[in-house]
Amino acid sequence: MTAKELKQKYLEFFEKNGHTIIAGAPLVPENDPTALFTTAGMHPLVPYLLGEKHPAGTRLTDVQKCIRTGDIDEVGDNWHLTFFEMLGNWSLGDYGKKEAIEFSFNFLTKELEISLDKLAVTVFTGEEGIPRDEESAETWKSLGVKPERIAYLGREDNWWGPAGQTGPCGPDTEMFYWSSEEDAPEVYDPKDKRWVEIWNDVFMIYNKKVDGTYEPLAQKNVDTGMGVERTVATLAGKSSAYDVDPLFSITVQVCALFNTTPEELEFENIKPVRIIADHLRATTFILADGVTPSNVEQGYVLRRLIRRAIRYGSELGITSPFTQQVAEAVIDLQGGFYKELREKRDFIMEELAKEEEKFNATLENGLKKFEKLKVEGSKVSGKDVFILFSTYGFPVEITRDLAKENGWTIDEEEFAKEFAQHQDLSRKGAEQKFKGGLADNSEVTTRMHTATHLMIAALRKVLGEHVYQKGANITAERIRFDFSHPEKMTPEQIKQVEDLVNEQIEKAHPVSCEELTLEEAKERGAMGVFESKYGEKVKVYTVGGDSQVKDAFSKEICGGPHVQNTLELGHFKILKEESSSSGVRRIKAILE
Ligand code: ALA
Repeated sequence: MTAKELKQKYLEFFEKNGHTIIAGAPLVPENDPTALFTTAGMHPLVPYLLGEKHPAGTRLTDVQKCIRTGDIDEVGDNWHLTFFEMLGNWSLGDYGKKEAIEFSFNFLTKELEISLDKLAVTVFTGEEGIPRDEESAETWKSLGVKPERIAYLGREDNWWGPAGQTGPCGPDTEMFYWSSEEDAPEVYDPKDKRWVEIWNDVFMIYNKKVDGTYEPLAQKNVDTGMGVERTVATLAGKSSAYDVDPLFSITVQVCALFNTTPEELEFENIKPVRIIADHLRATTFILADGVTPSNVEQGYVLRRLIRRAIRYGSELGITSPFTQQVAEAVIDLQGGFYKELREKRDFIMEELAKEEEKFNATLENGLKKFEKLKVEGSKVSGKDVFILFSTYGFPVEITRDLAKENGWTIDEEEFAKEFAQHQDLSRKGAEQKFKGGLADNSEVTTRMHTATHLMIAALRKVLGEHVYQKGANITAERIRFDFSHPEKMTPEQIKQVEDLVNEQIEKAHPVSCEELTLEEAKERGAMGVFESKYGEKVKVYTVGGDSQVKDAFSKEICGGPHVQNTLELGHFKILKEESSSSGVRRIKAILE
């Protein structure tokens, strides 16, 4: 089901049930000075939730474009988006909990044909002065939802609003879809991330006032919200909003800028590509609503989104202006539904061109200036600034601003050295790529390299002796490791491998190295895969024992380098396990 189909189904269903389809509002709230952007479908309806009469009646439905910037640092993962579309239906003092839940249940199970087996719900557990929501729980049960699929949770999970600092809010009931291929467990576990939230019914029966207190609303309302991108992706069996349109096609456009495709994307480039797609989509919509980049309010958010996108573009090696091309893709994909995108095309393009030109110049000048800077006395080391920049993609300008806000300075000189050294290393690294699987010799990759040894040993212990290294590629961001194994690892096996590795790390084993002949090494049970490459004498790295002992946790023939002690590794985590080719699996793992 496409986003367009979901929207159509939803609006038709609620129209059939007495709701009037209304137009979504602009992204800049007209009546709420406490918020910069429209953050939810109910946001433009606040006056009506507070009792004003809506011209279209007491049952409404729409699709609302929203911007949320609170989680901007999370954008680039599978689900966090700055701009998204929200479907909603409202009762303005009309129906209550029972009917709202029945509508949701019927839409999910009859219109979307989701099996009851794949659904779970949460309801508000209650707190002093606000009762436990037994009415919602009872309604769900009466519709066939098993009690073990209903969780009672507190304010953090089952309370929504207000959208700004004040206004309507209340307890809610949320609906979760089982996203895994495995059978859904009988009992719903709110901590299990395979349950993905797809809909939220909020019972807006309170008003939060300026002094922070809540007063009961005279008019009892229902406000619901279903995220379009998340729901479409989840129902399509995808694990990310970027795997379905429109975001998928936008990432295709971003990838084309540096001659790749989402399928061929290097792991470390996924996040920057997603951030660019997300930020420029948000940018295109914000511009279409008449905001221009500036240093205040909405204009400032817009400017930051554009600049962040450009910076991530430069990280990907995109050197010529590109924001317009991405915006074109957004307009092509979404301009049918959102006419303002097409109407404002010229304005959008002009503003992007101006801002991009300005920022590129700023960036260039800023870098030149920065190389001349001599800062005395610093709290944030240049090394740290560099790690933030290279590993976390954190813009230096922002690190600098942040340091300033904290009354610190950053060590610019040390940072410059680190930066220059990194450039040198990555050049060398590029020349020797795949030599030992290392892209460069930084401290981070050294840690990753040792972790890889522990991981191979753990894989062999968990899966069996048929596991051999088939290829490795290690960067400062992650380990990519291919190995022989005929089938998908189960979540339990992945967990066992992670636990084994972390257990060894915590044991603070020294990592020892000895030079032996190939025969000696083999005799002592050392592993080595690319045998043809080795000379007479080889280095054997041992972790958790010494090279004489056959049952050391890990013993491998390898060129190094490695850390001295496993404690340097931190915490090991497998991000992904997937097929690489027939009989070969691929793991992506990190140290955090
Ligand atoms: N207003 C509610 C939400 O945004 C429905 O989740």
